[in-house]
Formats: sequence, structure tokens, C-alpha cells
Amino acid sequence: MKKYYIRTFGCQMNVNDSQKMAGILKSLGYEPARDWKEADLILVNTCSVREKPDQKVLSALGEFKKVKNKNPDAVIGVCGCLAQRAGYEILQKAPFVDMVFGTTNIHHLPQLLKEAEAGNKAVEIIEDIDQSETELDRYPTVRDNRYTAYVTVIRGCDKKCTYCIVPYTRGKERSRRIGEVIQEVKWLVDDGVKEIHLIGQNVTAYGKDLGDVRFYELLYAVADVEGVERIRFTTGHPRDLDEETIKAMADIPQVCEYLHLPIQAGSDRILKAMDRGYTQKEYLEKIELLRKYIPDIALSTDIIVGFPGETYKDYLETVKVLKEVEYDQVFAFKYSPRPGTPAANMELTENPEDVGKRLSDLINMQKEITFKKNREYENKVVEVLVEEQKEDELVGRTRTNKLVHLKGGHNLLGELVKVKINKVNRFSLEGELLQQLV
Ligand code: SAH
Ligand code: SF4
Ligand code: F3S
Repeated sequence: MKKYYIRTFGCQMNVNDSQKMAGILKSLGYEPARDWKEADLILVNTCSVREKPDQKVLSALGEFKKVKNKNPDAVIGVCGCLAQRAGYEILQKAPFVDMVFGTTNIHHLPQLLKEAEAGNKAVEIIEDIDQSETELDRYPTVRDNRYTAYVTVIRGCDKKCTYCIVPYTRGKERSRRIGEVIQEVKWLVDDGVKEIHLIGQNVTAYGKDLGDVRFYELLYAVADVEGVERIRFTTGHPRDLDEETIKAMADIPQVCEYLHLPIQAGSDRILKAMDRGYTQKEYLEKIELLRKYIPDIALSTDIIVGFPGETYKDYLETVKVLKEVEYDQVFAFKYSPRPGTPAANMELTENPEDVGKRLSDLINMQKEITFKKNREYENKVVEVLVEEQKEDELVGRTRTNKLVHLKGGHNLLGELVKVKINKVNRFSLEGELLQQLV
């Protein structure tokens, strides 16, 4: 049996695409390799959202190249967002790569592989959307986690935030038909999945291109599938998050009390330059509305520090929002100019050294807030979905997405249990099993 190894960079969309590719490979009779060194096929699923992931891809390829020393027939393929944006450049820089394909050509993996195995360079990078891309949906995913699963509900993004490469690497918004999403959810539940995580670069825009369905209706439809115990979704855009969606989140018992709502920056001037389509005040009003309907909701966000023209005063507006909202988690990054995006032509912030300090100050400040939020769980009783068994302890997540290590109980994998939290760490909680639910 031939063996494959997939290295995935980037967001949940890429993770899900890799799971689908593993599904395709399984259908072709491949099995997973324990190590890339023993693989007959290595696939690198790339991300291009900042410069760092770009560089990581090239250094990973430099390493994987060695697979051919022992196994000259091994095939190395590159796909994902960097391949879509700069596939031909990759072939030039890494001529040992046998196969390159874009983000809408994944379903052609079987044909591409045949071509590469015949000793040819297999390249497919289509600029326009490949209409047949939905064929990918028919493949089951191969997942590490048996109890939680991603389901892609919308592809692409129409927002065109001025710093972002995603609309260029993933194309315009295409929602999957609601019936097809539900079909996939049913398969997953039949396969033992308890938690469905709906994903897309902009899930709250779901249905806009179809015209006859809205995101909140999708939430209700997924909740109606028997056996769905938990629902999450990422990423919501503050502009598209409407009161109907928030009401549905509060109303549907399975929708978890957790939301990732990227703000990117606190200053209205910078938000405008980013073309995010909201002001700080409007964003904070959405947070207020979320907390009105779902008082115990946990929140996380993305921040960009050092966007072109950001002054210290602008930065302080971001700090102010972090202090005011008190997110459970913050993902903060230094601005990275992306080729071809409008912001790449904007004048950079004067002193790049300042940006590094601003970022580390912000991360340190948030560390304390995260710890404080975690401490609120001390002695609380929470619901945990047990996802993993590690020797004498179980590992799972709360509805608010906190990682919990727990003692007591056996054969509880995939079960919802009640846990009393008795220790709080910076990045996780520890607890004692009280009882099994359901
Ligand atoms: N669709 C999501 C996020 C997609 S990209 C949204 O709109 O929120 C994930 C995160 O990467 C973004 O939220 C942003 O914080 C960060 N990011 C995107 N482009 C970036 C860039 N050029 N430099 C630094 N961070 C960037
Ligand atoms: Fe990028 Fe903005 Fe689209 Fe998010 S909403 S993927 S940040 S363009
Ligand atoms: Fe990266 Fe592409 Fe996702 S650029 S963040 S893998 S959509």
C-alpha cells in the first residue's frame, strides 16, 4: 500500500481541505504514513496570509526534498493558498516539486496524481472558480478527532479588507446548498461526531449569493439533525453578524456560548483604512448585543498591530477595546504586507521596532486577562465533551471552548459529562468528573 503524508499550514479551511484530500487518497487505496520520511506522496497545503507562513512552506519543502534520496519515485505536491497565488514561482524555487494545484482544483487530485506518477509535472492553477469544485464535497473526511468535525459551508470572501490576501487566493463567496451541508452533517453524526463546527472565511455571509437562505436558518437546520449535540462556527464577520443570528445562537440549545469575532484594530481611522466596514462603537454594540442575549458567552478576536500609518494613539484604541471587552483569547499579529493587496502600497508605520514592542505589550496584557477569565471557572460545574484519553486522564472542551483535563471515569470518549473545575491554569482547566450527561 502506498503511503501519504500531509503537512497543513493556515486556517480551518486548509485543515478541512487536507482532511478531504486524505479522504480522496483513502479512496485511492493510500494509507497515512507515520513519518514523512516513509511517504510515497507528500502534500504541503500552504497558507499565504502573512510572510512567515510563506517562508515556512519553502523551508518545509527543503526538508521534504530529502524523501527522494531514498525513494526517487516519491511525489511531492504543493497546494493551498500560496500555490494558488504563486504556484509557478514555487516550481522555479523548488524544481523537485512534482505537483502544484490551486484552492479550487483539489477534487482533481486523482488525475493530478496519475500525471505526476507518470513522471510529468502536474500543474493546475485556475484563476476563475472551477465550477466543478463541489465534487470535493462528496468525499468523506479523514479526521484525527472522532467527535468533532469541520463542515465547510461557504468558500471564498467578498470583503476585500485592504491587507488581506484571502479574497485573491480563495475567490468570491460561494455558499454550499443547505441540503448538501445537512447531508454531510448527517454522515458525520452517523460516524459518531457530536460537535459540528461550521467553517468559512466569512460564515455570517452564508446564503447571500444563493439569495434564498440566511445563516441563522442554516444554524436551525443543522440543530434539527438528530444527534448533533454541539454547534460552533468560525469566522463571523462583525458587519454580517445580525440580531437574528445572535437570537438564533441564544435560542438553539446546541449552539455553544463562544464566538470568535475579529476586530483587527480599535482605531476608527485604521478600521477605515482596512475597509472593515464598522467603527469601534458599532463593533462594541455587537458585543453588547451578544452579551445581552448570551450573558455567559466567551469571546475571542484577531488583532493586527502596525497596519500602515498606525500611530501610538491608534494602537491605544486597540488596547482600550481589549481592556473593555476582556476577551477569553486574542490572536495578535504584526502587519505583513501581502503582494497585490491595496495596503501593500501604503506607507508603513515609521518605526518598525515600535511595532514589535506594541505587539509584545499587547500579548502580555492579554495573558493576564485570559488568566483572569479562566479563574472565573474555579469551583464551577461545566459541561465537557470528552475528546481524548491520555493514560489516566481525559481531555475535552467546555461549551465556551476551554480545554479541560479531568480525572475519574472510563469509557467516556465522545460523551458529554459534568465536571467540577478544581484547578485553573493559564491555558487550561483541571477538574473532577461529577456525572455523565445524556
Ligand atoms: N476571515 C477572517 C480572518 C481571515 S485571516 C476575518 O475576516 O476575520 C486570519 C487573520 O489573519 C485575520 O483575522 C487577521 O488578523 C490576520 N491577517 C490577515 N492578513 C494579514 C496581514 N496582511 N498581516 C497580518 N495579519 C493578517
Ligand atoms: Fe480577509 Fe477580510 Fe475576508 Fe477576513 S473578511 S478573509 S480579513 S478579506
Ligand atoms: Fe491562510 Fe488561505 Fe486560510 S491564506 S489563513 S490558508 S484561507
